[in-house]
Order: sequence, then C-alpha cells, then structure tokens
Amino acid sequence: MYTSILFVLMWHTIYAAFTVTLSSGTQTRSADSKVRYDQIIYNPQNEYSPITGIFTVGNELGGVYSVSVSMMSGRVPAHTTIMKNGELLVWLFTNNSYDMASQSITVELSAGDKVWVQIANSGSSLFSVYNTFSAFQIMPIRVPVPA
Ligand SMILES: *[C@@H]1O[C@H](CO)[C@@H](O)[C@H](O)[C@H]1NC(C)=O
Repeated sequence: MYTSILFVLMWHTIYAAFTVTLSSGTQTRSADSKVRYDQIIYNPQNEYSPITGIFTVGNELGGVYSVSVSMMSGRVPAHTTIMKNGELLVWLFTNNSYDMASQSITVELSAGDKVWVQIANSGSSLFSVYNTFSAFQIMPIRVPVPA
C-alpha cells in the first residue's frame, strides 16, 4: 500500500521550467507591448504561451523561481522590462551597436501569477536569436496544512 502511495506521489511530481527565443529577423513592438518569443527550446508544461508571450505559473507550481532574459536590439536602442502581473521588476537596455544585456532575478511566484518581457518607453525592436527568456522553479513553497 505504501509503495503505491509513493508511486502516485512520484508520478504527480511536476517541475516548472522553460526557455524560449526569438526567431531570426527583427521583432518590432510598440510601447508597453509584450515580447512574443516564438521559438520554443523547452516548455514541457506549456506554461509559456508563444501567442501572448506570457508565462503563467501552473497549479501547484508556485515557489521560488529564477527568471532570466537576454536581449539585443541591433541597430536601434531598446529598453525592456521583466514584468510580474502588472509590476515592473527590472530593466534591460541595449544601444544601437549589436550589444547585449541580460538580467537574472529570483522571485517568489504563486499559481496563476503571470510573468512576461515588455518593450518599454516609446517602443522599439529586438534583433533575432540573441533574445531569450527562461524561468525555472528553484524550490516549491509548501504551506503547512492546519491540524
Ligand atoms: C548609444 O549610441 C550612440 C551612438 O554611438 C551614442 O551617441 C549614445 O550616447 C549611446 N547611448 C547610450 C545611452 O550609451
């Protein structure tokens, strides 16, 4: 009996992680619009949507997360921000000489929280495959059940 309970618990274990990038070419976005990374490298739970650009934390997948973004805007300057729900967490900036910027942050996320990358200021464009967006769960948060 305990063996089968253990098996069920192990079978139920899911882990949140994804990495997505842009395809080659230039993605132009207006001010405050979400970047839509369209190339899926890893997204087993489908928590990241390439249609909306939003990573939505799944049921039972709340916890402490690492979120990383790298950007390159190519021949134009651009600012991007990492957003949690409506809240701005951090900024990235690249100028017009094919330079790159990156941020890696640690955040606590609950089921249903939404994280995305947004083009800031007056809008701009991102250049090609040098733009990536990744997140993974470092550890779950277990809330004690009241006795
Ligand atoms: C961006 O590059 C241009 C051209 O080289 C330069 O004039 C400008 O000062 C740079 N901007 C920043 C914020 O470094």
